[in-house]
Amino acid sequence: MNLVLMGLPGAGKGTQAERIVEKYDIPHISTGDMFRAAIKDGTELGLQAKSFMDKGELVPDEVTIGIVRERLSKEDCNKGFLLDGFPRTVAQAEALENILADLDRRINYVINIQVDKDILMERLTGRRICKNCGATYHLVFNPPAEEGKCDRCGGELYQRADDNEETVQNRLDVNMKQTQPLLDFYEEKGYVRNIDGQQDINKVFEDVDALLGGLH
Ligand code: AP5
Ligand code: ZN
Repeated sequence: MNLVLMGLPGAGKGTQAERIVEKYDIPHISTGDMFRAAIKDGTELGLQAKSFMDKGELVPDEVTIGIVRERLSKEDCNKGFLLDGFPRTVAQAEALENILADLDRRINYVINIQVDKDILMERLTGRRICKNCGATYHLVFNPPAEEGKCDRCGGELYQRADDNEETVQNRLDVNMKQTQPLLDFYEEKGYVRNIDGQQDINKVFEDVDALLGGLH
């Protein structure tokens, strides 16, 4: 199954992606994670992406489209994929259509996680992530059993560099501008399925799972 996960920053894309890829055994392709890994490794791509991410701006389309094209042509994507955080502009969505046409594939669903923007700031500033396995927590909504430690692997939890109030505000502003045209693009193709992202994390997954179960 070929899926795109959409939603504003903090809507719960990464949280749901962890569960979806585990159950449906498809690769999780997060452009944000790919950029963060490149920054950590100090590569050319990381250098290019860092200045944009630190400000909460989008990394230029040419850079982002290039890494997605390369990733989607890898063999593990033959069984399907979950794109998380890509596409984010209409230009990226158009490029994705071309990439998929070259690979003779098409999107099954664009899963749009809907959350009122007023609660996103709290979600993002309270987020903590495991350094070791990448699991996502929230200080209030999804706290680890032991403060600062991952339930799964015991790894240390950290806060993302762009989860401070100022950068979050800009990320929300930037993404809100891009979202409607992108949704219109996919609505026209009939791909969009809306999911209520303001429910409990497990309930959100139940709704996603009910939708995807139909694809088996
Ligand atoms: P990216 O890494 O994609 O970040 P984002 O879109 O800002 O999304 P987040 O990862 O912040 O949020 P999420 O929806 O995954 O929420 P999560 O599940 O963690 O992008 C970062 C940057 O990279 C961009 O700003 C840009 O610079 C660059 N970039 C990436 N892709 C790009 C592209 N295509 N083009 C250009 N630039 C690009 O949840 C958030 C918190 O809420 C967590 O603490 C979680 O525990 C909690 N939570 C989740 N669900 C619930 C729930 N149902 N109830 C209560 N709490 C919940
Ligand atoms: Zn962990």
